[in-house]
Amino acid sequence: MTAMTYNVNGRKYQFDADSGMPLLWVIRDIIGLTGTKYGCGVEICKACTVWIDGSPEKSCEKRASEGVGVKITTIEGLSATPVGLRLQQAFVDVQAPQCGYCQSGMLMAATSLVARSPKPTDAQIDSALGNICACGTYPRVKQAIRKATGQ
Ligand code: FES
Ligand code: FES
Repeated sequence: MTAMTYNVNGRKYQFDADSGMPLLWVIRDIIGLTGTKYGCGVEICKACTVWIDGSPEKSCEKRASEGVGVKITTIEGLSATPVGLRLQQAFVDVQAPQCGYCQSGMLMAATSLVARSPKPTDAQIDSALGNICACGTYPRVKQAIRKATGQ
């Protein structure tokens, strides 16, 4: 076990963990922020997406040691950003979530995209998201992103 300090959503967390455990487990099981979901566990579905220093990353593929010395943002911290808040509201307005399981990852990826490209095209959305949704919400996710970006 290794003593670690994380910065998550602007708050400091200190704990002991196996440095090789997935970052996703640290976020969910040690820190207790369960909005980030475990989907495939093999780096495909992107349900586990968080931001590391502002970039969307799959937390199931990162090790606990990679969360030290960086700024992590999870779905629980997304509404602190104006773009994140706008996208969350748009997802609700168009009723994008169905079961909701993939939507945290979708929102983390979508907000990062809109922060970089304020009026993304469908091709940019397809390329930036790539999140798997078992409920098939892709058209409504696109609709939400268009609504949030005034398109
Ligand atoms: S749980 Fe990480 S990519 Fe599926
Ligand atoms: S809303 Fe159910 S998996 Fe995407």
